[in-house]
Amino acid sequence: MTAIDLGLRHPDEKVAAQRTPEEQRVHEAREVAQHYEHNPDIFSLVLDKRLAYATGVFLSPEEDLETAQERKYARVAAKLNIQPGEKVLDVGCGWGSLLLYLAQHTKGEFHGITLSSKQREVALQRAKDWGVADRVRVDLTHVEKLDPAPESYDVLLFSGSIVHMHNREAIHQLVGRTLKPGGRLFISDCYFPEQVRGDRDSSATRYIFVTALGYCRLLSLSEELGLIERAGLDLLHVEDLTSSYVQTLGHWIDNVRKNRERIEAMAPGFAKVLQGYMTVAKLSFARRTALEYMILATKGAPKVHVAGWPIPGNAK
Ligand SMILES: C[S@@+](CC[C@H](N)C(=O)[O-])C[C@H]1O[C@@H](n2cnc3c(N)ncnc32)[C@H](O)[C@@H]1O
Repeated sequence: MTAIDLGLRHPDEKVAAQRTPEEQRVHEAREVAQHYEHNPDIFSLVLDKRLAYATGVFLSPEEDLETAQERKYARVAAKLNIQPGEKVLDVGCGWGSLLLYLAQHTKGEFHGITLSSKQREVALQRAKDWGVADRVRVDLTHVEKLDPAPESYDVLLFSGSIVHMHNREAIHQLVGRTLKPGGRLFISDCYFPEQVRGDRDSSATRYIFVTALGYCRLLSLSEELGLIERAGLDLLHVEDLTSSYVQTLGHWIDNVRKNRERIEAMAPGFAKVLQGYMTVAKLSFARRTALEYMILATKGAPKVHVAGWPIPGNAK
């Protein structure tokens, strides 16, 4: 199969395209980890209780962050319908938000990976505190170094993480190999519209993608879906969460503002970085120069019943 020619949309992606895959892995592991290696107490002051660093699902502007994140966890859990003993790999598990919710609400076996040792420590400690440590393993590794056995997982999750990965075709080929027949893939992440809106070479874009977050590559939705299909999977559902992400970012920004001094005391300058990148991101999603989607796909006929996606406004 010939490689897909994915668009290179901002200068840092063009530099990444010149690196060998190994050089790019080293670059991502170093640059991306820096953000997540900040004191986890900082993120506890900004995010919801479970520390989801991804959009919630809002049904109205009046809702609070906890309600929206709980709805997202519950919706993803309903969607995936994880069965006892099923093996789940959370690629980029953060501090364990979705991973531990699913571990607490199902009888699956969970494996998370992250680039941050601090995130790993927090996720493992919470797994212990919440009584699910016997079914949760967390490793510090770049996904491309994982080398899982073919057809070894029932569910693969990428929540807010695939955006940090440059070599997307390789990632999706790995997903295609690693899922068992009937397995499910879930992605929740950011995309650029297919047609250019806004300035992708701007210093504001660079601030988010490089200064704040280390390395980011936003594809268009159709490019990501094309890669999923080429890896042999079928798409079950795509949901736009762009306006929910605007609201999520609004709550995070309010929390940074409220806790500015405490964040400053833990990491001088970091409150400014958080508030700066989140404010530019919020504006971008509000203007739809960036988009937020969640995607569900399956390798062949899903092994379990996969419920219809609840229609916003009709479901809690
Ligand atoms: C925005 S956070 C999302 C955390 C979590 N999934 C959530 O929804 O709360 C991105 C996560 O992806 C991880 N990550 C990014 N690139 C990765 C890679 N190449 N391999 C493994 N983990 C990666 C980071 O370490 C971080 O944990």
